[in-house]
Amino acid sequence: WSSTARKVDGVLEVGGIRVTDLVAEHGSPAYVLDEADFRSRARAFRDAFREYDVFYAGKAFLCTTVARWVAEEGLCLDVCSGGELAVAERAGFPAERLGFHGNNKSVAELARAVELGVGRIIVDSFHEIHRLADLTRELGRTARVLIRVTAGVEAHTHEYIATAHEDQKFGFSISSGDALAAAQQIRDTPGLELLGLHSHIGSQIFDSSGFEVAARRVLALHAQISEEVGVVLPELDLGGGFGIAYTTQDDPSDPAQLAIELTKIVTEECKARDLDVPRLSIEPGRAIVGPAVCTVYEVGTVKAVELDGGAVRTYVSVDGGMSDNIRTALYDADYSCTLASRSSDAPMLLSRVVGKHCEAGDIVVKDEFLPGDLVPGDLLAVPGTGAYCRSMSSNYNHALRPPVVAVRDGVSTVLVRRETEDDLLRLDTGAGARMED
Ligand code: LLP
Repeated sequence: WSSTARKVDGVLEVGGIRVTDLVAEHGSPAYVLDEADFRSRARAFRDAFREYDVFYAGKAFLCTTVARWVAEEGLCLDVCSGGELAVAERAGFPAERLGFHGNNKSVAELARAVELGVGRIIVDSFHEIHRLADLTRELGRTARVLIRVTAGVEAHTHEYIATAHEDQKFGFSISSGDALAAAQQIRDTPGLELLGLHSHIGSQIFDSSGFEVAARRVLALHAQISEEVGVVLPELDLGGGFGIAYTTQDDPSDPAQLAIELTKIVTEECKARDLDVPRLSIEPGRAIVGPAVCTVYEVGTVKAVELDGGAVRTYVSVDGGMSDNIRTALYDADYSCTLASRSSDAPMLLSRVVGKHCEAGDIVVKDEFLPGDLVPGDLLAVPGTGAYCRSMSSNYNHALRPPVVAVRDGVSTVLVRRETEDDLLRLDTGAGARMED
């Protein structure tokens, strides 16, 4: 839960506002973003990492207001597509504090980044180096780049979100020699300024050992580049991936603390190798925005289903689902939830919170004990939905995406409004049919 969330007489309050009032004003479902919580997590990273740079990873969740909060809190911003770059641009985010990622950035995206003067372009392939070389020549500009490297580490997380083992699409392999070759090519390309290496091992990671192994391997490459390529790289980005607690089963460790540990590891490794410590950066997304949001849903139906062996599971259907949170279906992610609109003394029953989509896998919360007297109209709140929920949302079944409502000191502000049927139909040209209107 976000730091201002609390229950008063059974009713959940966030940012000083009761969710019942929020739903009365903004409808359901809604993503409720606790501004104070977001800012304090951003600040915790910035303070823990004071002499270095913290890039907020916009892929976790981004809109223009959040980009401005990030700038106000003194963080930099990591974007990974032309769309995210457009949000940063619209927000007036200082271009030199942007990092631009992606394994297949288009020529148009790269041209825009170079023209805007994006602070760091993280190059991911030899094709991209050539593309950037051509572009900087044509535009008469210089691009500052980091090389995304694959450290060959198995991060302990879901396989779809682990990114540092060899057999995946990101980065230049260190072990094959590609990363070193990339450094040589960039050194020999006039429009490119090589500033450092970048490693991101995966997401939702609790254990520092993966980071540690990656940092050592990347620093070994850093040393090799200074010896063999003759460039002492001033920067090193260790990526994001700091895990958060989704349920009480998860480790509640402090992600900013992990960032401090990382700094120590790098400093010691540099000392051992007689290297100057490069300017470090990290890119947390989930750990900043994840806990700051809860999704509020309205219960529509309640059904008791008998399981093999006679046990009963209550299926509670809500007015959203996999279109606003795909993580349970995609990663088998665990969430929890609570009755948010009233108190109840009814016995707790094993329940499953499901959405309204035409798919049996449309599950929001796999297992939760919820009061046995739930009725249509009750509100449920699911915490920890700030990261990769709205940003991975879809219009499956022509669902309308919920709004993102920021709350702070008793005031609610719509940052992203609810979609309407007109929004959906605006893209539908209606062309090509013979039937008359
Ligand atoms: N930097 C890079 C280069 C990344 O690829 C990512 C995440 C981050 C930073 C931020 O990672 P974070 O601190 O948020 O873990 N959709 C998945 C997560 C995909 C992460 C992709 N890259 C999920 O919902 O779990």
